[in-house]
Amino acid sequence: MSLLEVTNIHGGYGGADILKGVNMRVVDGGLAVIIGPNGAGKSTAMKAIAGLVKINRGTVTFQGQDVTGMRADKLTGMGLSYVPQERNVFPTLTVLENLEMGAFLVSGNLRPRLDRVYGIFPLLAEKTQMLAGNLSGGERQMVAMGRALMLEPKLLMLDEPTAGLSPKITDMIFQKIKEISESGSAVLMVEQNARHALALADWAYVLVMGKNRFEDSGKAVLANDEVATMFLGG
Ligand SMILES: Nc1ncnc2c1ncn2[C@@H]1O[C@H](COP(=O)(O)OP(=O)(O)O)[C@@H](O)[C@H]1O
Ligand SMILES: [Mg+2]
Repeated sequence: MSLLEVTNIHGGYGGADILKGVNMRVVDGGLAVIIGPNGAGKSTAMKAIAGLVKINRGTVTFQGQDVTGMRADKLTGMGLSYVPQERNVFPTLTVLENLEMGAFLVSGNLRPRLDRVYGIFPLLAEKTQMLAGNLSGGERQMVAMGRALMLEPKLLMLDEPTAGLSPKITDMIFQKIKEISESGSAVLMVEQNARHALALADWAYVLVMGKNRFEDSGKAVLANDEVATMFLGG
């Protein structure tokens, strides 16, 4: 059964629909990537799935339940964690406080969850008392992902997690994303580093002008000459 199933959604910010027929599916433990040109609606699709943008038509099901139009905080409670591209940490809070904020819905001992996050991102364990706003871009991205992981989500949604990062840090973040998807949280991510993301992804969606244009396994999309010419710079 699919963990997430998005069927023909239309929606946007109140004016004309930005999304005009988006279809997507993520299986348990899968790693799916959305690529496409700037302004295609990739971030809007992520927000619609996460309950932050209005859906006027179509459905989203999560763990077999129709969650179309459900509030973001409720979806989070069900196991869907969304990390936006920007402003995804609290800069005036410490690393530890950011991680604790991620678990605001959890009662009881946070230690096992913190240990899992530090296991994935050992660097964060060394910087627990630093203000998130004083970290490097790569470290901030680790905090943002770590905060989302504090809820032990079934699905982790990441909007351009490597944007603005150096090639070396980008490699490291992609490696972590792969590890996360192999350790119990499925991942749906938007990426501009398309080739790199496609090499890791089980399944890939090409979104153009608010609609699905193409989908296939990550490797098949990489090997598709037409897609490569149009969306991967030749
Ligand atoms: N908050 C917003 N209000 C109105 N329109 C928006 C908003 N955010 C994005 N858009 C519009 O939605 C379209 C798709 O944007 P976006 O989803 O950010 O694209 P992508 O992430 O693929 O680059 C663009 O035309 C953009 O101008
Ligand atoms: Mg975007």
